[in-house]
Amino acid sequence: MRAEDLLFQDARHVWHPFTQASTAPTPIAIARGEGPYLITADGERLLDLISSWWVNLHGHAHPHIAAAIARQAGTLEQVIFAGFTHAPAVTLATRLAERLPGGLSRIFFSDNGSTAVEAALKIALQACYNRGEGQRRRILALEGGYHGDTFGAMSAGQSSGFYAPFADKLFDVTFLPYPETWADDADVEAKEAQALATLNRVLDEQGGETAALLLEPLLQGSTGMRLCRPAFLNEVVRRVRARGILVIFDEVMTGFFRMGRMWAAEHLTETPDLVCLSKGLTGGFLPMGITACTQPLYEAFQGDTFDRAFAHGHSYTANPLACAAALASLELLETAQTRQSVARIGETHARWQPELSAHPNLEHARGLGTVAAVNLRGAGGYGGDTSLRLRQFFLERGLLLRPLGNVLYLLPPYCVEDEHLDAAYRAVLDAAQTFGGPS
Ligand SMILES: Cc1ncc(COP(=O)(O)O)c(C=O)c1O
Repeated sequence: MRAEDLLFQDARHVWHPFTQASTAPTPIAIARGEGPYLITADGERLLDLISSWWVNLHGHAHPHIAAAIARQAGTLEQVIFAGFTHAPAVTLATRLAERLPGGLSRIFFSDNGSTAVEAALKIALQACYNRGEGQRRRILALEGGYHGDTFGAMSAGQSSGFYAPFADKLFDVTFLPYPETWADDADVEAKEAQALATLNRVLDEQGGETAALLLEPLLQGSTGMRLCRPAFLNEVVRRVRARGILVIFDEVMTGFFRMGRMWAAEHLTETPDLVCLSKGLTGGFLPMGITACTQPLYEAFQGDTFDRAFAHGHSYTANPLACAAALASLELLETAQTRQSVARIGETHARWQPELSAHPNLEHARGLGTVAAVNLRGAGGYGGDTSLRLRQFFLERGLLLRPLGNVLYLLPPYCVEDEHLDAAYRAVLDAAQTFGGPS
């Protein structure tokens, strides 16, 4: 299809996510991907510095994953997963169980990040119910968290601010303050102390009625790449678990070396009872979600009657193609080359941080692992005018960067070269000059 025909039909029939079609620029037609590049229908090369909504790990159209999917497609493309099983799912579950921390040895498959979170919330609530602790109905979460766009995930992410039309349909969640921090933050200890004091009060009032705490470990992505310190999270997890409350880590975005280690949880000493995975799970090739939990939690669902079972599932549960992609991606993640790239990206981010911090129009430079972010003073919120103009500014320089409001961030695929990152940082400094101002 010619690019103009494609865009004409797109405008007539397609509904794009997180987009105000009335004001958004015409979408860019992408013909193919190659390593860190997306290549437009007009042949222009765009450097994908956000890994296409944080999913792509090894670069676009990576031949190792493409070949694994093709082989699997010629063997078994799909089979009902109730009452049946298959080698790609079992191998993937085994590999993840070996790799996950804290005895998270049971793997439940779903379709994306939101469903991985929904399954985690439902497992936690039903485990309490099945164990005779039916009074534990409440969910705790952190202010500023984002967990997806299904109803349970929205309820636990209410503070992200996108849900006004559904407010009356969301269930009540207790939110704790989130002590966001950055490189030269003098107030972090005071913020943490205040958050822990709130936690103590909440635990005294609601501890016995709470089933689970859900949080994005170390980095809140969607609400602005907001970091917190591992020691704070360790303390939260310790206090919550001491009250018999289950802990769910939403590693949908942080997993698979995004934070420099295989899991954000590897920066902590405390471990969760459940973890949610998606995004990078298949290297960015196919949608899949996973909820992993401990064996004791799994055992809470055993019994003679079906009503103790987890009556939850999706048509494409453990799709063999997605499992094959995930296995191929894990093989790539295990290579020395990937480890070196992850470390190198982290070092490059760190090398640029002083220059960002010194710029008068930028503030709160921060980063961990392969993710780096900085705030542009004086710019508006998500979907605001400056945010849209910034996207355009970067696209004109051949860079796919998609600021979250005033937050400029880099979250590249691991095949990105230093010279790519240097070009991106120079563009960020140019943008600071062009768009920044006093806040
Ligand atoms: C931490 C986190 N959890 C859950 C989700 C939802 O994932 P999905 O968009 O695949 O439903 C996201 C998506 O950005 C996320 O960042």
